[in-house]
Amino acid sequence: MAGTVGSVLPTRQLRHDSGVLSAPTAPRANVPVVGDLLRLRSNLLNAIQHAASSGNEISYFNVGPRRMVFVNRSTAADIVLSDIHTFGKPGGENPLRLVLGDGLISNPHHDSWLQRRRALQPMYSRSSLAGMRQKMADVVAEHTERWERSDRVDLNVHEEMLAFTLEIVSTCMFSRCGDTVAEMINPGTASFLLDFVERRIRGPFALPVSVPSRRNRSFSSTLKNLDDLVYRLMEERRGSGERLDDLLDILLDVRVGDDATPLTDLEVRDEILTTFLAAYETTASALTWVLYLIACYPEIQQRVRQEVRSPASTDRKETQRGTFLECVINESMRLFPPSPTIPRQARKDALIGTAKVSEGTFVMLNVAAVHRDPDIWERPDEFIPERFMNGVPGKGKYLPFGAGAHMCIGKGFAMMEMSMLLASIIDKFEISLQDSASPEPVALITLRPRDGFGLTLKRI
Ligand code: HEM
Repeated sequence: MAGTVGSVLPTRQLRHDSGVLSAPTAPRANVPVVGDLLRLRSNLLNAIQHAASSGNEISYFNVGPRRMVFVNRSTAADIVLSDIHTFGKPGGENPLRLVLGDGLISNPHHDSWLQRRRALQPMYSRSSLAGMRQKMADVVAEHTERWERSDRVDLNVHEEMLAFTLEIVSTCMFSRCGDTVAEMINPGTASFLLDFVERRIRGPFALPVSVPSRRNRSFSSTLKNLDDLVYRLMEERRGSGERLDDLLDILLDVRVGDDATPLTDLEVRDEILTTFLAAYETTASALTWVLYLIACYPEIQQRVRQEVRSPASTDRKETQRGTFLECVINESMRLFPPSPTIPRQARKDALIGTAKVSEGTFVMLNVAAVHRDPDIWERPDEFIPERFMNGVPGKGKYLPFGAGAHMCIGKGFAMMEMSMLLASIIDKFEISLQDSASPEPVALITLRPRDGFGLTLKRI
């Protein structure tokens, strides 16, 4: 491994090392482990950790009436991710579908998903990303200029990153993010909807949405307001005849099937909400943990600063590919994967290696465990960005964006957005952890710091 920097995570980070996200131990035979609902309810990381520390390729959990399997090692993960006909997206009762309908992320029907995936590819093509670049740059400038107004600013990082990523996706989707959009699609609304979904994933005995409890009514009215807004924006765009070359324009242009049919309003709505959800918390989580690690390792921060200030980096601005900053982002997502698990459901009885999985079983790819597997990663708990100098390993070994046919379609979008913001912050500010900062990761859909934590930006 070339030029290893970074040592064992500092003492204040030992919370992760001492249990919640530590490395799995060596493999043993496939002895089932029976988990429980409480373990999942309090913090998915407890279940992730428990499964990983069993050392088994596969661990079994019983969550209420559901049988769940955790896949802890790369060979098994590769089998699951490459066989999309046997291991599909979770079906009927997937709570994500309450908000996202049959958008790309939650669509359990293979044929309609595939048709839509092909049709939506232009949203994330190189030329579309190039078109998003200026929109992203404007949002980055707006945020960094605000922080630059004083010599020193204390940030609640995760909150700031949530606000930033939401504004990026709003701007790239709707161009002008008018007051109404900001009022309706704000971190409060987004977090409420996500929280509602997460509680249902954790608690399989939740009341059906049709039962008029206070929380259900609040959910239904928030979703209805959001739907009304989205349909109105679609209508206004069609009526104006204006082209703003944003994601909404591209979505309205999408044609599917041999007869080139446009998406229905409901399909466009599902894809808009899917893009918001997919792009918002995941990217905010990734940025939060990169900033955390960069604050912990001043020598790495300085190396990135030199890189972003060098004239050579301007040539690579379009992609940031092959940069040290890209290695830092990759290594951070290895240690703190924004999506620590990827869900699937067995469509039929199947084998994962030698383990039998019956039809209907929920299969969770334990990305956090694979990312700290000592058989794959030398010194797995250390922050060593150089390990990515020669690219990322394949075959189920590195999965922040998943792999196979369902691999994140927004990867290029996310990498561009993260690189732009990080390059700008690191260029302009010295980043340090506030003394009291000791973030504890918690997870369900994404990995976030419980109660947030503080960073200080000092203008350079
Ligand atoms: C650091 C940021 C991000 C991370 C870590 C991430 C992670 C992932 C992962 C793990 C999957 C695979 C899920 C599966 O296999 O079931 C996925 C799928 C997806 N992501 Fe991302 N994502 C990120 C950013 C984005 C962004 C910015 C967008 C859109 C602008 C996006 C859109 C999607 C969509 C639409 C899918 C579904 C793809 C399909 O099943 O065909 N993601 N993402």
